[in-house]
Amino acid sequence: MTISVQGVVAGGKGEPAELTTVLVPEPGPGEALVTVQACGVCHTDLHYKQGGIGDDFPYLLGHEAAGLVDAVGPSVTEVAPGDFVILNWRAVCGRCRACSRGRPWYCFNTRNASQKMTLADGTVVSPALGIGAFAEKTLVAAGQCTKVNPAIPAATAGLLGCGVMAGIGAAINTGGVTRGDSVAVIGCGGVGDGAILGAWLAGARTIIAVDVDDRKLDWARGFGATHVINSRSADPVAGIRELTGGFGADVVIEAIGRPETYQQAFYARDLAGVVVLVGVPTPEMRLELPLIDVFGRGGALKSSWYGDCLPSRDFPMLVDLHLAGRLPLDKFASETIGLGDVEEAFAKMARGEVLRSVVTL
Ligand code: APR
Ligand code: ZN
Ligand code: ZN
Repeated sequence: MTISVQGVVAGGKGEPAELTTVLVPEPGPGEALVTVQACGVCHTDLHYKQGGIGDDFPYLLGHEAAGLVDAVGPSVTEVAPGDFVILNWRAVCGRCRACSRGRPWYCFNTRNASQKMTLADGTVVSPALGIGAFAEKTLVAAGQCTKVNPAIPAATAGLLGCGVMAGIGAAINTGGVTRGDSVAVIGCGGVGDGAILGAWLAGARTIIAVDVDDRKLDWARGFGATHVINSRSADPVAGIRELTGGFGADVVIEAIGRPETYQQAFYARDLAGVVVLVGVPTPEMRLELPLIDVFGRGGALKSSWYGDCLPSRDFPMLVDLHLAGRLPLDKFASETIGLGDVEEAFAKMARGEVLRSVVTL
């Protein structure tokens, strides 16, 4: 039986997102119906609304979520009704060339629900990142549900579903940060602060936060930054080198997605160091670097997709570290809001007033 729920839908490019009725089908084979308990407001939702990701309007926004499995379709064995889960957008297929080479965190054929959710008039909605969790209930592939310890509050757990995981994973999974390393993070929003926290968790000795906003730099210290540089008033490359014995950091993480900050990352790393790009650029951006420097500085220039995370491996582990008091994930949630407040949260995000607004239901 199809159920009717309230969800936040972006109807067309640049139009305000509105709370409206969404019809959700009963889960079919391989699918799960999830009662959403919390969902963070991520930049990608804003990009969807602005038409920056595609033209498949209307979009059902929201993708950084946790909740309870309500029902599962036939043949679902991964999860059962009542399970507390974080939703992921990497439900690995197990068969593509990445999966079959034992690198499922790169899965090239991730799964989503096959049935469609619709508006009341039957118009099919496109769920953001195959999730669509600014809604009382949503339909996903069962593999998009990662079971974690239910002792963690949903508003904290949901953050691991996207930005915070991307940041932590950029440091730990992609950058390979390990104890004793020096790490610099350029851009200290939710993703950059996730990277700072990941570097701290991995035992980095020096963690340098770079941003143009002093308020963001203050928050970055709370996640483990040992030094901060405001790149509006100081040259970040010179600053990072000075703080690392004149050499540059072992790992530099770019968490903005702009050519000029990527260039800073490139020159702020030590010889044979690693640059990780986790910020998402726009299609028209171009990068120009002397090829001799790409060769001569050695090391690795890497991109980090979703923090190169494997949800089944990383979500339960990070939740348990949080519950053990070793990972202050709760600090990312600046405020909790209602489903009707998403538009206002986009404005706060644009003004840099919050790390994450989290819708709780
Ligand atoms: N130099 C330094 N810091 C900058 C600069 C700059 N030129 N431009 C912006 N910043 C800072 C902002 O002040 C802000 O603190 O970068 C941070 C970006 O943070 P958010 O806008 O909150 O973005 P976040 O959610 O962290 O995502 C970062 O990762 O997933 C992608 O699409 C996302 O590309 C975005 C990036
Ligand atoms: Zn695969
Ligand atoms: Zn996101």
